[in-house]
Amino acid sequence: MLPSKLSSSLLCQCKDLKKLVQTVSSVLSRDLSTETESWRTTPTDKSKLPYAVNSKCEKVELPTGTNLKSPVWSWNGWDPLEEVIVGRAEGAFCPPFEKEIQVNSYGDNFEFMKKQASKPFPKEIVNKAITEIAEFCRILEAEGITVKQPDIIDWSVPYKTPDFASTGLYAAMPRDIWMVVGDEIIEAPMCWRSRFFEYRAYRALMKDYFKRGAKWTSAPRPQMSQELYDNDYPIGDLDKRYEMANNGKFLTTEFEPVFDTADFIRAGTDIFVQRSQVTNDFGIEWVRSHLAPKGIKVHKLNFTDPHAMHIDTTFNILGPGLVLTHPERPCHELDMIKKAGWTILTAPKPLCPPDHPLWFSSRWLSANVVMLDPHRVCVQKTETTTAAMFESFGLKAIPIDIRHANTLGGGFHCWTCDIRRRGTLESYF
Ligand code: NVA
Repeated sequence: MLPSKLSSSLLCQCKDLKKLVQTVSSVLSRDLSTETESWRTTPTDKSKLPYAVNSKCEKVELPTGTNLKSPVWSWNGWDPLEEVIVGRAEGAFCPPFEKEIQVNSYGDNFEFMKKQASKPFPKEIVNKAITEIAEFCRILEAEGITVKQPDIIDWSVPYKTPDFASTGLYAAMPRDIWMVVGDEIIEAPMCWRSRFFEYRAYRALMKDYFKRGAKWTSAPRPQMSQELYDNDYPIGDLDKRYEMANNGKFLTTEFEPVFDTADFIRAGTDIFVQRSQVTNDFGIEWVRSHLAPKGIKVHKLNFTDPHAMHIDTTFNILGPGLVLTHPERPCHELDMIKKAGWTILTAPKPLCPPDHPLWFSSRWLSANVVMLDPHRVCVQKTETTTAAMFESFGLKAIPIDIRHANTLGGGFHCWTCDIRRRGTLESYF
């Protein structure tokens, strides 16, 4: 038996501890469906930003029927991040060497992708990518951000539809397949045959978001038959490809609507998109008509880029009226954006060594950054000139090493899909 004085003090501490445990667990299991969400109607404070915002920032009425309690909530790519999906490198599998892969295989990678076709990607790089992504997730969680990941799937399983046969790729780049517009999450149709079933890795997550109040939309499933691809596309003739890109012509035809969501970049009531190897005009029109009733405008931008696939190393919006552009992929509509008062940053040349393997992309993944909030940006640790450019502008660059995760074809923006950011719908244009 304890002396009474000691036992009452212990009892008191235990009560405090119990209270603490209760508080922590109620915060962790916070039920968004019952919370008052005043931050969903309050714009992020611009007066505290380290740079002057020159563009218009006007709070806009939320579209009719918007669910103010949805676990999915994001109108732009910079409001404070609360929840994010981060991709997985596990099981990454090299797809058959179809035209859509050939068109996106840069330089020496062409031979590598041909040789590796229908085999797992080299283990040593995939394992390094897994370790880097685990550390990236840990950093995000340490910042108080909820991190979700897709299921682990065997991407080597062959499949056949009435129109084609293939094997899978990976679930490394959620940005390519998901786009959040307010309380809604939109699933892209995609156009690589190896990505046809990629959504399966995210089914559990989407069912849960839907049950908790998110709107869940899947764009029409494409056939991906031969008619979707231009058989005469001059894969090996870069001059011709430049000429075609300038005329808005790429490998995909207008047979049916296709798009990857990574070709879209959000800024409140305005969403920008590029016609690319994987996003066609039909797909852009589908998104435009789908979002028009919400008052969201979709603007098509054109760039000189014969490899165009995913806008987020070419034109990456980082804050209200703040865009990072690519010095070698001029945007033909930049004057319109300048006139609207936007601040234009230019990405410095990447420092990634030329011999570092990048299976699906250029070295410009240095510009493929993601914002934790309007002040802080995740930057590849070794891209010190890019980090210095951000710092000189007043942003805090958070150095994180995902160099081998880059090898799989994406930077921080590609590897993530922001599910919930604190803030509301505004017009910046
Ligand atoms: N296609 C782009 C990468 C987009 C993440 C590039 O290679 O630069």
